[in-house]
Amino acid sequence: MKKTFTLILMTVLLVSVCMMAQAATSTETGTGVTVITANEWAETYADVYASYMQNAENDAVIDHVEEYPMIATVYEGMAFNKFYNSARGHYYTVQDVTNTGRPHALANCFTCKTPDFTARVNNEGVSAYTIPFEDMLATVNESVSCYNCHANTPGELVVTHTYLTDAMGDDFAALNGETAACAQCHVEYYFAPETKAVTLPYSNMETMHPDSILAFFEETEFADYTNPRTGVRQIKVQHPEFETYMGKGSVHAAQFTCADCHMEKAANENGEAYTSHYWVSPVDSAAIQQNCSGCHTDLAAFVKGIQDKAEERTIAIGTKLETLTNQLADAVASENYTEDELNAIRELNRKGQFYWDFVFVENSESAHNSRLTTECLDKAEKLIDEALGLIKQ
Ligand code: HEC
Ligand code: HEC
Ligand code: HEC
Ligand code: HEC
Repeated sequence: MKKTFTLILMTVLLVSVCMMAQAATSTETGTGVTVITANEWAETYADVYASYMQNAENDAVIDHVEEYPMIATVYEGMAFNKFYNSARGHYYTVQDVTNTGRPHALANCFTCKTPDFTARVNNEGVSAYTIPFEDMLATVNESVSCYNCHANTPGELVVTHTYLTDAMGDDFAALNGETAACAQCHVEYYFAPETKAVTLPYSNMETMHPDSILAFFEETEFADYTNPRTGVRQIKVQHPEFETYMGKGSVHAAQFTCADCHMEKAANENGEAYTSHYWVSPVDSAAIQQNCSGCHTDLAAFVKGIQDKAEERTIAIGTKLETLTNQLADAVASENYTEDELNAIRELNRKGQFYWDFVFVENSESAHNSRLTTECLDKAEKLIDEALGLIKQ
């Protein structure tokens, strides 16, 4: 009883803290648009521009392959197993995609890196996705920029990546513009096998749940790559921040937008208010935490507690997945299994890896929705244990 009351009280408080919602709108396509660059807006929006340029300060790179040794095995069969660096600021997207070390044949890799490509898709349609990478690179002016979130009308929030609009279906109208802006890139996606177009594996908010996404990949028999030693057709999940934060179990999804927690409200020397475009962790921002301090007295410690717990389990289950991969590879090489027996283990491996990856590659390390994270890790562990149980000793 008391707990319910406290929750209701908190919800009421939260709604009053919440900023005025701005509904998402979507761009026109086939319109012959030219991108107005960030530099061209520098004088008109001097404060926003200066904060945007601060993203160059977020330049630390961590080599995930060194940090998480199990991924050399778990991702075998795709280049992420050798080249997988942590993300850094929006300022570096073009540089980072050009220098990944992973092969990239097509321009579709630029989808979340530069507005020059976004505009090209909007002008030319899905055929732009198969332009050769190097040809596209020669025309690129800048990394993630104003056009991506505002089209050529800074201040208005416009979805320019229309695969998001398609994937939201009727729910698009209910989506807040400040969350939609980020959901254009911080999502799980795949390249449609025929057109190579970036596509999201769902058709509304409800089918965004990992269970439904997996069901979709099962139905379409989709795989990103096949592990060469085990023959498992694997799915490579990519940064599902939007799906995780907006998913079932999220404490704050109805109250806070992505921008509320990652973009400070600031004021310039003349006291004029503006929104900082230096995308930061709320843990590193005193200004953002002014809206949290009523309920979280030590946000940094609270977040770290959630992350440490998730991290420990993610490593433990990832290590089990590594063991499974090696044991299944041995099973394939031996002559002790029928093809049906191997396929039963492969299926469990494919699904277990999907749920594990959904957590491993999500950038908040569980802080966005620890209930969903726990649910995914539980499912991953159960599937992997079951698969290990089918290995003959
Ligand atoms: C056009 C695509 C795009 C949009 C839109 C976008 N991002 Fe990003 N974001 C990226 C990419 C790509 C990276 C990784 C950059 C790299 O390492 O090269 C990134 C990185 C980040 C990082 C840094 C992560 C780290 O580990 O340091 C934060 C924080 C972030 N984004 C938050 C946001 C927020 C909040 C929004 C919405 C207001 C948003 N992003 C919208 C593409 C985008
Ligand atoms: C209620 C606050 C809150 C909201 C809303 C929120 N986040 Fe976060 N986000 C966090 C916290 C806390 C972290 C972990 C920060 C850390 O480790 O320092 C985080 C981490 C991230 C990171 C990794 C940043 C880094 O520096 O490594 C990205 C990217 C990100 N969020 C994107 C999003 C996107 C996209 C949305 C909207 C779909 C969103 N966030 C909504 C609180 C929030
Ligand atoms: C990754 C998405 C993203 C990018 C890139 C981006 N913005 Fe924004 N912008 C936002 C969001 C989110 C808001 C907050 C809107 C709100 O609070 O209603 C915003 C607000 C604004 C506003 C309204 C005034 C204010 O300060 O709140 C202006 C003007 C603006 N942006 C200009 C720009 C310019 C100029 C650039 C390029 C240098 C840019 N934006 C790049 C997402 C973005
Ligand atoms: C009205 C009270 C209230 C405010 C204001 C509030 N929170 Fe929370 N927050 C909660 C409650 C309650 C929980 C759930 C705690 C739990 O699960 O033990 C929570 C959980 C969280 C979590 C963990 C989510 C998860 O899934 O485990 C994060 C991260 C978070 N809050 C960040 C923030 C940030 C950042 C702000 C400010 C922008 C903020 N909160 C403002 C009450 C609040």
